Amino acid sequence: MIHAENEKLEIQNLHLHAFGEQEGPVIQKMTEEFLQLPETISINVYRGLRIAGNVLFSPFSLDDHPEKKCFLLAPLGVLPEYQGLGIGRELIEKGVYHLKLIGADAIFVLGYPKYYASRGFAPAKVLPPHHKLVGETEAWRMLEIKPGSMDGIGGTSVAAAPIMNPMFWDTSGRPD
Ligand SMILES: CC(C)(COP(=O)(O)OP(=O)(O)OC[C@H]1O[C@@H](n2cnc3c(N)ncnc32)[C@H](O)[C@@H]1OP(=O)(O)O)[C@@H](O)C(=O)NCCC(=O)NCCS
Repeated sequence: MIHAENEKLEIQNLHLHAFGEQEGPVIQKMTEEFLQLPETISINVYRGLRIAGNVLFSPFSLDDHPEKKCFLLAPLGVLPEYQGLGIGRELIEKGVYHLKLIGADAIFVLGYPKYYASRGFAPAKVLPPHHKLVGETEAWRMLEIKPGSMDGIGGTSVAAAPIMNPMFWDTSGRPD
C-alpha cells in the first residue's frame, strides 16, 4: 500500500499516543518501518477528519507451509480519547473483510487473550517467532479467514523485519 507522508505521520503519532509513554516510542518506530514496506496493509477508522484508530497487517510466513497466505496483526491502536467505543472491533472487522478479498488464509496475533478471544481468535498451533520467549501463552492466537485452512498446520514461523526484534515477543511480565 502506498501512503501519503502526512498520513504516515498521523498513523505513527496515533500509535505513539495509543500505546502510551512506555511502549509508545518503540511501537511508533515499528509502525514507521512497517509503513515503508509496500506489502503492509494499513486500515484506518476515522472520526471526522481524524484517524481515530489504525491497524497494520504484514505478511507472515509459515516455515513448513510456504503456500499459506498469512498475516500478522500488529500494531492495533486507538487514540486514548476514542478507546472503548468499538473502534478496535471495527478495525479488526475491516481488516478481515479486506484480507478475505485478497484470498488470505489466516491472521495471527500476540495480544490480550480475552480481547482477541471475544473477536473470534483461537489459540494458535503454529509456533510464533522467538517462541521460547513467547512461551506457553493464551496471548498467541489466530483467526482463520478461509475456514479449515489451518487444520493440522503447525511448525515455526517468521514475521516481517520490523517486528522480528525479540523484545516484541517476550511475554514475561505481560498480564494474561
Ligand atoms: C486495545 C485497543 C486497541 C482496543 O480498542 P478499543 O476501540 O478501545 O476497543 P473496543 O471498543 O473495540 O473494545 C473494548 C474492549 O477492549 C478491552 N480493552 C481495552 N484496553 C484493554 C487492555 N489494556 N487490556 C485488555 N482489554 C482491553 C475492553 O475491556 C473491552 O472489552 P470487551 O469488548 O470484551 O468489553 C485500544 O484500547 C488501544 O489502543 N489500547 C492501547 C494500545 C494497545 O494496547 N494495543 C494492543 C492491542 S493487543
